[in-house]
Amino acid sequence: MNLELTETQTLIRDTARKFARERVAPQARTFDREETFATELYRELASLGLMGVNISAKYGGAEAGVVAYSLAMMEMSAACASTSVTMAVTNMCAELIHTYGNDAQREKFVTRLTSGEAVAGSFALSEPHAGSDPRAMRTTAVRRGDTWVLNGSKQWITSGEYAGVMVVWAQTGGQGGKGISAFIVEGGTPGLHVGKHEDKMGLRASNTVSLTFEDCAIPADNLLGKEGDGFKLAMIALDGGRIGIASQACGVARAALDASVRYAKDRKAFGQAIGEFQGLSFMMANMATELEAAELLTLRAASLKEEGKPFTREASMAKLFASEMSNRAVDKAVQIHGGYGYIDEFPVERYFRDARVQTIYEGTSEVQRLVIARETFKLFG
Ligand code: CAA
Repeated sequence: MNLELTETQTLIRDTARKFARERVAPQARTFDREETFATELYRELASLGLMGVNISAKYGGAEAGVVAYSLAMMEMSAACASTSVTMAVTNMCAELIHTYGNDAQREKFVTRLTSGEAVAGSFALSEPHAGSDPRAMRTTAVRRGDTWVLNGSKQWITSGEYAGVMVVWAQTGGQGGKGISAFIVEGGTPGLHVGKHEDKMGLRASNTVSLTFEDCAIPADNLLGKEGDGFKLAMIALDGGRIGIASQACGVARAALDASVRYAKDRKAFGQAIGEFQGLSFMMANMATELEAAELLTLRAASLKEEGKPFTREASMAKLFASEMSNRAVDKAVQIHGGYGYIDEFPVERYFRDARVQTIYEGTSEVQRLVIARETFKLFG
């Protein structure tokens, strides 16, 4: 067992860390307050290879692997979770097309995502009535000549207003999951309407919208994978996506711990630094221990994926543990800061709001437990 990072992994982590600290962190509070979708910043991320960390160099990626991706996500998330979720979904879309698309699709769409030309990618699976149960989706795609015509609505679509490239799922006929196919849709396609901009509790600088497809015709060539394979592709992509969100949770928790330790060393009460009180120092001891456990689970899932081994169970475990850990960490961080944790002069109130969605998106904690239970029943007994 080797827990040392490779040269490439160290390079990607350090590149992401430098950019996150110098370019992202100083703007994170303003981005959050003003709900800024930082288009130019995302293009800079792309220029560093961070919009295609696990994509081959041939298609503009960093070709650095999944562990490097997870490390980069942790760094970006410690600075700004809104930035990191945009990065996560873009990497997820690029990887999905890279792995399951054909050469022409890779050439046309993956390079646009990795280069920043597309600004961001969107993953359009959820619908107003179908979140945890995507098989219940109602959006349809009907083949007409050289096109597929899409009709329906999608909900909670990250970067949906700005994404140049989207992967969209729709019913194409057939039973259950077998009737769902995946399509690549370009932003701005006629018949694709961007709906309500969600006013969210956290991740306020990430863009979340609904999308409506009204006789939206896309080229037949934009079918991703085979007709009827869409549900499986979604599940595979989400397995990888969950490593991204677990990494995000680790990054936010690390930032919360860092802020807490700094504050606890500085703030005095009853004649001493508050960090010297056992009640508070034990909170930070727990935060640090749980953070390391979550990082190890996350990097283990990333490493399995990188080695081409099954990782569904490990990705769900990492996502479940890291997201719940991060919510405990941000809660304690606010508590340690006292009243100052409740105002936006200190960053922990943003971490608190940003962490909350981590047990919900890319599969709720309940969905993760369902996946883990199913996989555990296959492995044990
Ligand atoms: N890898 C490969 N194939 C898989 C798979 C996986 N991880 N999981 C399931 N499948 C396959 C199954 O083998 C099965 O194939 P066959 O029909 O050939 O046997 C098929 O898919 C159906 O599988 P299930 O019976 O397990 O499907 P289910 O309907 O019971 O659903 C579920 C399982 C785990 C609950 C799934 O629906 C799920 O993950 N739901 C949560 C959805 C989710 O995470 N949404 C997040 C939206 S995206 C987002 O949040 C992005 C963002 O913007 C940040």
